[in-house]
Amino acid sequence: MTKLLGYFKGMRIKGLLAPLLKMSEAGLELLVPLIIAQIIDLGISQNNRQIIYTRGLQLVITGLIGLSVSVTAQYFSAYTAVSFVKRIQHICYEKIQRMSFTQHNEIGTSTLITRLTGDMDSIRNGVNLTLRLLLRSPVVVIGACIMAFRVDKQAAAVFIGAVPLLALVIFAVMIITIPKNRHIRSAVDGALTTVRESVTGARVLRAFGIEKNQADEFTAKNEILTRLQERTGRISALLNPLTCLIVNTASACLIWIGAKRVDAGIISCGAVVALYSYMSQILVELIKLANLIITLTKSFACADRVASLLETPDEEIPESAPDKESGAYIEFDNVSFTYKGAGAPALKDISFSVNRGERIGIIGATGSGKSTLMNLLAGFYRPTRGHIYIEGKDINSYGREELAKKIGFVEQKSVIFGGTVRSNLTLGNENAGDEEITAALKAAQADDFVAQKENGIDTVTEQNGRNFSGGQRQRLSVARALLKNPDILILDDASSALDYLTDSKMRKALSGLDCRAIFTVSQRTGSILDCDKIILLEDGEAAAGTHDELLKNNEEYREIHLSQFEEDDAV
Ligand SMILES: Nc1ncnc2c1ncn2[C@@H]1O[C@H](COP(=O)(O)OP(=O)(O)O)[C@@H](O)[C@H]1O
Ligand SMILES: [Mg+2]
Repeated sequence: MTKLLGYFKGMRIKGLLAPLLKMSEAGLELLVPLIIAQIIDLGISQNNRQIIYTRGLQLVITGLIGLSVSVTAQYFSAYTAVSFVKRIQHICYEKIQRMSFTQHNEIGTSTLITRLTGDMDSIRNGVNLTLRLLLRSPVVVIGACIMAFRVDKQAAAVFIGAVPLLALVIFAVMIITIPKNRHIRSAVDGALTTVRESVTGARVLRAFGIEKNQADEFTAKNEILTRLQERTGRISALLNPLTCLIVNTASACLIWIGAKRVDAGIISCGAVVALYSYMSQILVELIKLANLIITLTKSFACADRVASLLETPDEEIPESAPDKESGAYIEFDNVSFTYKGAGAPALKDISFSVNRGERIGIIGATGSGKSTLMNLLAGFYRPTRGHIYIEGKDINSYGREELAKKIGFVEQKSVIFGGTVRSNLTLGNENAGDEEITAALKAAQADDFVAQKENGIDTVTEQNGRNFSGGQRQRLSVARALLKNPDILILDDASSALDYLTDSKMRKALSGLDCRAIFTVSQRTGSILDCDKIILLEDGEAAAGTHDELLKNNEEYREIHLSQFEEDDAV
């Protein structure tokens, strides 16, 4: 939490005014029992209407001032809490955007989402409550004790016994329940994971008829949660009866002692009422303080998690190798890559070069490293060993944006954002006009289905593009990459959901493109056989050649090709 304190910069005045104003509000509240005592002693018992009216007016004025001070203080504390969290939320968001994919994998998407949402809510709550209660509660508790002593020392002695006992009960319950609340939190997380999985995977669960298994799992997790909550609830439930017992016993003592002293003519009736009010004020404030501490322990935990996210070092780009004059447009020089935490390398000693204007086909079984190879070329991951050169310059020496501008990447799993077809397509080229968009859609074989929609390129795309089929999303992603006019186009299995005819039409359209290099990843030899160079990946190792060369010299390639063409013949 202390690490986040620096982000209060610029809101310190409001952040200081809030607790100070709350403190003045507490001061005013402490005056109220005294005024009431005077109304009783001087006004009611002596039948002095003048006193009743003036003191009554004093009460109203104190109330009004208290109200305006309180409203202003609440505004300042809410403002400070919201601005503070808005600021760290923004910084966290930017941090997440800057993180490398290795870091994304390590931390996990759902954790990142919780940091930006639930954790932020908790911090906001903590800051807001702290500003409001930090100074107010001690002032009320200590102030009420002092005032009680000023009213009557002997009767106030009851406070000396009651207040510490009250504090003890409240804080004991709190100390027992805080760790339990932490367990509840992780049990809620567990139940949530199951809910998330069953909602996102609802179709699969239904298709396999295993909704019941998932429901059972949820019930089990829910039961753990319920048991934990029950146990904690039982302890928390003790709080009210116990505090009431102490307060009521103390009140009884107070009234008994007070009555005796009133009888003896030492104190007035009003004084007893005032003492009683102070006792209630203390109780209410102690309960608020306990709540504050519970909220604070939660928000401290969240703040620590957010701080550790902010402390993750930025992506470390390895040192770049000196420029290389090989004449090739792209060169992979002994590139190896191992995912963090994975035992075996995903790519081993890959070397090949691509001349300007060439079309490269990449083929291999699933898991052979095709996507990894393309991710390295896009700079999403950095080679563990070896270097990749574009135009003779190490890829590590290109800035992230510079590289992004060069490359049009159609990922294996197409991602379409909520918006419109147009907003999705123009992501890499804001200025594209209708004509350009239509041309890109045409090349990607997406013009037909977009034209059939009522609003054409302004058709709404729902979240994750779910109002389009898998193949349609793929073609929209291809169009989006084309619209960017990239130097290097990467199609990672971009036609896997397309039928042969559409695939071949798309290939024909793409062959006329003016790119410096086009990489086509595919499982089908038919999609890549006319490429200038084919790279066959097998367990992270590469063999390169043209279709004819590989067919002649490479057993694996021949097998893949023959298996597919036999299949095709059979159709
Ligand atoms: N984010 C990741 N973290 C750890 N291992 C991964 C990750 N992505 C892929 N792999 C592993 O790397 C290997 C190559 O994967 P990938 O490049 O996706 O293969 P392909 O695209 O050829 O199907 C596989 O063994 C896969 O399990
Ligand atoms: Mg892949």
